[in-house]
Amino acid sequence: MNIRHFDSRTTASAYIASEMHTLIETRPQSVLGLATGDTMLDVYQALRQLLSASKVDLSTVKTFNLDEYVGLSENDPQSYYAYMNKHLFLPSLSWNHNNIHLPNGRAHDLVAEASQYEQALDDAGPVDIQLLGIGMNGHIGFNEPGTPFDSVTRVVDLSDTTLRSNRKHFESYEAMPKQAISMGIQSIMRAKRIMLVAFGRNKADIVSKLLTGRVTEDLPASILHQHPNVEIVVDDALYDVIAESLE
Ligand code: F6R
Repeated sequence: MNIRHFDSRTTASAYIASEMHTLIETRPQSVLGLATGDTMLDVYQALRQLLSASKVDLSTVKTFNLDEYVGLSENDPQSYYAYMNKHLFLPSLSWNHNNIHLPNGRAHDLVAEASQYEQALDDAGPVDIQLLGIGMNGHIGFNEPGTPFDSVTRVVDLSDTTLRSNRKHFESYEAMPKQAISMGIQSIMRAKRIMLVAFGRNKADIVSKLLTGRVTEDLPASILHQHPNVEIVVDDALYDVIAESLE
């Protein structure tokens, strides 16, 4: 597992965006695994700029997002569908909306929706580049501590740590969805290449545990030690805190 550090989140995001852009240019039928969250905002801004400037054809690119809140429709501003539309799937770019996939958090039958999502991912995959953020508790996607490593896309309960972290995006705690549909750990591990992104001092502790600790279901991201092509991309605000523990 390689760690790459950059002087700022802007330069780190530019690096990730450029890797994704190069993939799309060289492989028009590439499959992207996408994440949401605050960490990805600069990544998508940089990617949007590259895509607008190059006008590369996106019509055959497929995307699969990691997760969606249960109960939120794509028109709900707090849904991950709305997040993606706002930050990446702009009408000015040539995305083919038939090739964009997020779980439907409002599906009548959520169990069937999750298994259809997993099937669609499997049929289209493997994912060429999977973007991941990391939760304060080490979650990837919404695979919370204790998630079996052989899990696939399913309905999950959000942990208290996740609810506390994401509370800021909602009017109240009560208004927050307490469940999501999330790709599983096994679904994520099938990707050819994984880029896990973490910025800022507040993620230093969990990234340090990830890098120095053992592989355990108590820290879902630790499974990445068993993947052959993973980069951990961080900014120096985070790296400076953990550098000593890596020596
Ligand atoms: C988002 C996702 C989550 C986030 C993680 C970090 O689709 O699956 O795992 O990547 O919670 O979120 P931020 O970037 O907001 O700290």
